[in-house]
This record gives sequence, C-alpha cells and structure tokens, in this order.
Amino acid sequence: MKKPAATHYPVHELIRDRWSPRAFAEKEVSAEVLRSLFEAARWAPSSSNEQPWAFIVGTKDDSDTHGRLLSTLVEFNQNWAKHAPVLVLALSELAFARNGHPNRNAFYDTGAAVAHLTAEATARGLYVHQMAGFDPHKVIELFSIPTGWEPIAAFVIGYPGDPQVLPESLRERELAPRTRKPLTEFVMSGSWNQPAGFLKH
Ligand SMILES: Cc1cc2nc3c(=O)[nH]c(=O)nc-3n(C[C@H](O)[C@H](O)[C@H](O)COP(=O)(O)O)c2cc1C
Repeated sequence: MKKPAATHYPVHELIRDRWSPRAFAEKEVSAEVLRSLFEAARWAPSSSNEQPWAFIVGTKDDSDTHGRLLSTLVEFNQNWAKHAPVLVLALSELAFARNGHPNRNAFYDTGAAVAHLTAEATARGLYVHQMAGFDPHKVIELFSIPTGWEPIAAFVIGYPGDPQVLPESLRERELAPRTRKPLTEFVMSGSWNQPAGFLKH
C-alpha cells in the first residue's frame, strides 16, 4: 500500500513515499540488502564524526535475537511488529570516546543515521517503522548493554503488506490520512514564532 505525503511544495519521491506502515509482507530482507541499509546509516553525518550509534538486529531466521527484541516492545507494538521480518534497536553512546565529555548530540546523530537507513530502504521498496514504545531497561538487561550506552528507539524494516491482515483498530489507522503542521508553525526568522520570510508568497 502506498500513502504518499500530500506536500504543500514539491519534494523528492523518497521523502514523499516514505511512511510508517504496520502491515508487512512475510518476505524476508536479504543479507545483501541489510548490508546496504546499515552502510547508508554508516555514512550519516555526526558531531566530530563520532558516529555514536549502534544497532542490535534481529531477523526472523535469528529467532533468539528477534524474540528477545520483540519481548522488549510494549504490547501495542508487539501486536503488529511481530510480523515484520527485521526488528532493530538503535542505541547511542552518551560520551565522546576521545575525552569522555558528554556528547549532547548523540541522540540527534543516531536519529540522522536511522534517517539515512530509512532513505536507502525507501529507495529499495522497503519501509521502516520506528517505535519509542519499548522498555529500555529490558534491552540493557537482555543484551548486556555496557554502561555509557542508551537504547534510543526500536524500528522494524520490511516490504509492504496487506492492511486487511491487521486488526480493525490498526487497519483504520493504516488507512487514515497522514497529517503535518504547516511550515509557518515551525520555520521562523527574525524572532520566535515569526514565520520565515520566504514562506510568504
Ligand atoms: C522516534 C519515533 C517513535 C515512534 N514510536 C512509535 C511507536 O511506539 N508505535 C507506533 O506504532 N509508531 C511509532 N512511531 C511512528 C509515528 O507515529 C509516525 O512516524 C508518525 O505518526 C508519522 O507518520 P508517518 O511516519 O507515516 O509519516 C514513532 C516514530 C518515531 C520517529
């Protein structure tokens, strides 16, 4: 199923076509494709080129990792995410490796790496659905995460599936229109809350 963004201004099709489905096909994601997705994450920009990210990946054929990752999700997310072929947990290192100082951009950089991965996935007909609904303490315990690393977000990767397989409440959300704030609410110049001049036309 496609759900392109109803944009106010033209954007690249990779941005337009990305969305966060909950229905995924059974089709597995090949090791070759997974390598390219994480290669895309690898080339994301980061503060001081620290690359403060790490990913725990559970594919369906690695039922041990997949099962443990799934068990860290809140029940709402488990209900639909269990069908996706790849489950991932993104983590950030909170201090710079070279001097131990706090890296206040670690989360930001990890988000950028996931955005890179998502663009690569979209270009390959894959979809990514990110999740804040998981238990970070359980992740730390189940995967022996070292001190200094923080679980940030989970996400699934997969090919689009038939929304009809979803329970009714989720199917409604799957089919609902995608909405966004207007640019005038968050792109400013001059002073806070003053829409940027280039938006007037
Ligand atoms: C950091 C983050 C956390 C999210 N957490 C959840 C989640 O726990 N469960 C869920 O179903 N969707 C989750 N989402 C998906 C958002 O609801 C979705 O991206 C948003 O509604 C916009 O829809 P779109 O991605 O289809 O444009 C999350 C997205 C992000 C980026």
